[in-house]
Amino acid sequence: MYAEFAATLIQTRQHFAPKRLHEPGPSEAQVQAMFRAAAAAPDHRCILPWRFIVVSRASRAALGKVFAAALRARDPTASEIQLSEARNKADWAPFLALAIVREGGDEEPDVPAQERLISLGCAIQNMLLSAHAEGLGSGLVSGQSLQAPHVRQFFNLGECERAVCFVAVGTVQKPRPIRQRPDPATFVTQV
Ligand SMILES: Cc1cc2nc3c(=O)[nH]c(=O)nc-3n(C[C@H](O)[C@H](O)[C@H](O)COP(=O)(O)O)c2cc1C
Repeated sequence: MYAEFAATLIQTRQHFAPKRLHEPGPSEAQVQAMFRAAAAAPDHRCILPWRFIVVSRASRAALGKVFAAALRARDPTASEIQLSEARNKADWAPFLALAIVREGGDEEPDVPAQERLISLGCAIQNMLLSAHAEGLGSGLVSGQSLQAPHVRQFFNLGECERAVCFVAVGTVQKPRPIRQRPDPATFVTQV
């Protein structure tokens, strides 16, 4: 019933680096649609093992300082240019949200970390497809600084929580070709 629509939506989604995502960002209604899409992810035992923190425009400068501090701690020899680049990363993309998985520490210890992470992955993909369906571009960004104590503190992460990646959404000004997808024959076998 939805096969053609779903195939087109899925096959035409592509990653854009956050710095290639410009204003206008998603409207409030589009953001809500993205999070409703996330909520439709498969979730073993329905434990909601993930959450998102939206980084508002007002918080971008503070996040930039945190990125720079994390870089300085990781590499005390980082140059001013590198520190400034790290700071600028927080400014990219009109919509930026941190995706966080809860790996345990709740009443469902039987749901392993890998299932929780898969659920988050599905939630993120639903968000990306929701943004794409609205004609917006999107991208994911991770990197070493995500695990830095500075970043964990900034987002007030719990002991059992792990930052997985940022979800960035905005308007694409320069389209680019969609990458060649791997042939299913390269990743499917049969027994
Ligand atoms: C969890 C996760 C983290 C990612 N982090 C980055 C990143 O830090 N930098 C980056 O360029 N791409 C990142 N990507 C996006 C991939 O580079 C991108 O999906 C890949 O190149 C395939 O392109 P496509 O999504 O257009 O098919 C990430 C993807 C995932 C799933």
